Amino acid sequence: MSSSQLPLIDSFGRLHNNLRISVTDRCNIRCFYCMPAEDVQFMDKSELLTFEEIERFVRVAVPLGIDKLRLTGGEPLVRRELHTLVAKLAAIPGIKDVGLTTNGIFLAEQAADLYAAGLRRINVSLDALTPEKFKQFTRRDGFEKVIEGIQAARRVGFDPVKINAVSVRGMTEDEVVPFGHFARETGVEVRFIEYMPLDADNAWERGKVLFAHEIIEKLSAEIMPLVPTVLHDRTAREQPAHGGGHGGPASDFVFEDGVGRIGFIASISQPFCMSCNRIRITADGKLRNCLFSLDETDVRSLVRGDGTDDQIASAIRSSVAAKKEGHEINTARFIQPARPMYSIGG
Ligand code: 5AD
Ligand code: SF4
Repeated sequence: MSSSQLPLIDSFGRLHNNLRISVTDRCNIRCFYCMPAEDVQFMDKSELLTFEEIERFVRVAVPLGIDKLRLTGGEPLVRRELHTLVAKLAAIPGIKDVGLTTNGIFLAEQAADLYAAGLRRINVSLDALTPEKFKQFTRRDGFEKVIEGIQAARRVGFDPVKINAVSVRGMTEDEVVPFGHFARETGVEVRFIEYMPLDADNAWERGKVLFAHEIIEKLSAEIMPLVPTVLHDRTAREQPAHGGGHGGPASDFVFEDGVGRIGFIASISQPFCMSCNRIRITADGKLRNCLFSLDETDVRSLVRGDGTDDQIASAIRSSVAAKKEGHEINTARFIQPARPMYSIGG
């Protein structure tokens, strides 16, 4: 094996096979935990990586061990003709899986094209099950469109379709049981993500996070006990702090009658940094080795200019090599990154 094919292992022994690609920082809603209410400064179109530049970057990353991709935003479906990018990426030899995280507003119109392009996994961000509460989270209307999007995605064959619900104290409590029933009735997995300090308004406080264990208790008491899924059971012996039996940060549960899957991304109460396998590229071509990293590596100048594939590969290796042990949200040392979520991509 030549050195250019050594896997991406960082100084803590973590192997990186997962790349999240943000395709735009624009969004058609304004979730309070991500974007400011108004006057958002979006990137200029000329700053965004083109689909060809993204494809080139991925082709260089694959021999380093990247085999899983996820497209994110902002809202990725506001980027024109996104399905053509999906088709380019899904066709790269060595790519095993392409996923998408969307707010679902444009999903009904695009689901069939995305599926035909080779996309199979969709996560829809949806924090509430009533239009009123939806608007409190997103500062916009659109609840019905998201529900239609989820239904359309299921209809054209996407499997799995998952919901990401950010869990916020004072807002999510009333949604927990309805989401439990929703998961049981639709077969859609609902994943609660603890609210993280990545909001543009800098209003995050630990006290505003509704923790995973509180949600587990509520669902277990009011619907029926939740039990970890088999995959979770298997890794739980080694790493009781979290699940992640399939290499991701979520720990997965199912109601004890086997109906209704509920997942948790407990970034605050149970950090999973030690099993992190992700790197990220922003829409303007900056490589980030962590959601919370304070510095990033420019690769746009390489993929756009006359950088060689070797130079791009070295930039990826250096970024992974510099990855810190984990976020320090639970310490006084924590500094919120300058980029809010919409310009990182989640
Ligand atoms: N905390 C937790 N999750 C967040 N997301 C966006 N901002 C935050 C935050 N501050 C979620 C989105 C999306 C995923 C990529 O990250 O809802 O589902
Ligand atoms: Fe990985 Fe950084 Fe997230 Fe921790 S905080 S899981 S290191 S991306």
